[in-house]
Amino acid sequence: MAADAARVIASAPDAGALEEVRIGLIGKNGSVTALLKTLGAMSPEARAEVGPKVHGLRARVTAELAEAKARLEDAAMAAQLASERIDLTLPAPEAPRGSVHPVSQVMDELAEIFADLGFAVATGPEIEDDWHNFTALTIPESHPARAMHDTFYTAGHNGGPGTMLLRTHTSPVQIRAMLAAGGDQPLRIIAPGRVYRADSDATHTPMFHQVEGLVVGRDIHLGHLKWTLETFLKAFFERDDIVLRLRPSYFPFTEPSVEVDAGYSWQGGRRVIGGSGDAPGHAWMELLGSGMIHREVLRAGGYDPDAWQGFAFGAGIDRLAMLKYGMSDLRAFFDGDLRWLTHFGFSPLDIPTLSGGVGVRG
Ligand code: DAH
Repeated sequence: MAADAARVIASAPDAGALEEVRIGLIGKNGSVTALLKTLGAMSPEARAEVGPKVHGLRARVTAELAEAKARLEDAAMAAQLASERIDLTLPAPEAPRGSVHPVSQVMDELAEIFADLGFAVATGPEIEDDWHNFTALTIPESHPARAMHDTFYTAGHNGGPGTMLLRTHTSPVQIRAMLAAGGDQPLRIIAPGRVYRADSDATHTPMFHQVEGLVVGRDIHLGHLKWTLETFLKAFFERDDIVLRLRPSYFPFTEPSVEVDAGYSWQGGRRVIGGSGDAPGHAWMELLGSGMIHREVLRAGGYDPDAWQGFAFGAGIDRLAMLKYGMSDLRAFFDGDLRWLTHFGFSPLDIPTLSGGVGVRG
């Protein structure tokens, strides 16, 4: 009996089987329990002889069960540890890393550089009304400049008062910023953002980015405009030899209007800004439009044009990015091709200021 019990206990393959063995031996109806029950009906002499053996058997079986239980638990633990093991010496899987799009990068750079010059960032809606986008900027309905803008109108609209449209330039933010300022305080803002025109080829996309600049004060003149643009462009292109040429031009919202050209040369198949456009091997490139704010625009913005003056400028951000970072195809900007983004994208820590250059390319 004892040898049988020991064999059955030893051969239980797992904790569940062992529990059944325990019940079969020392459970309420177990075989060892049944032996114990026979002691009561025995004569005292017989009980004195058999009793210790049966109790001894029960003690031995109980001890063997406990020992088998511990052994099976250890084995289960060992098996679990073996199957769940991780190798800490393996290289960690590479975490996917995003990058900052060149347009976002340039917008951040603009905000940083102009912040150093005391400019705040202003914004306006991309779905704009006709008045802010055109009329307040002295582009009335019959004005030929409207036709030049290839405007996307919202459904059911095609011009005229109350019309809603996708803004064709960032200039309406001039009006919004002036009105928000209340007409009685100087103003220095830039407004970077998306603009839309129904135009698409290698150098035009229906959505592109502009940055507007606006300075209003009591004694602002063209000299301030030129210094501001020069200081900005030197910081942006990270070189001291930026030479600008101001050319008379026409925009409805500035008087006088100037187009600003910068000297550049070709280096390794790339246009590189710097030097005078009149120097040997150099030429002039149109960079942006600007001028002194038209009296009627100041008035539309709630400023008295006899007491206040200012300048404004507008530049294409995508173009600035292409010039600075050497991209050639504008459409690639908006394709979302990961290879392009990985190649031209930036680390979030690359932000130039007036006093320091950019950090390491990401
Ligand atoms: N809004 C003009 C455009 O989209 C650019 C521009 C020209 C903005 C002259 C200005 C400015 O603020 O003064 O072509």
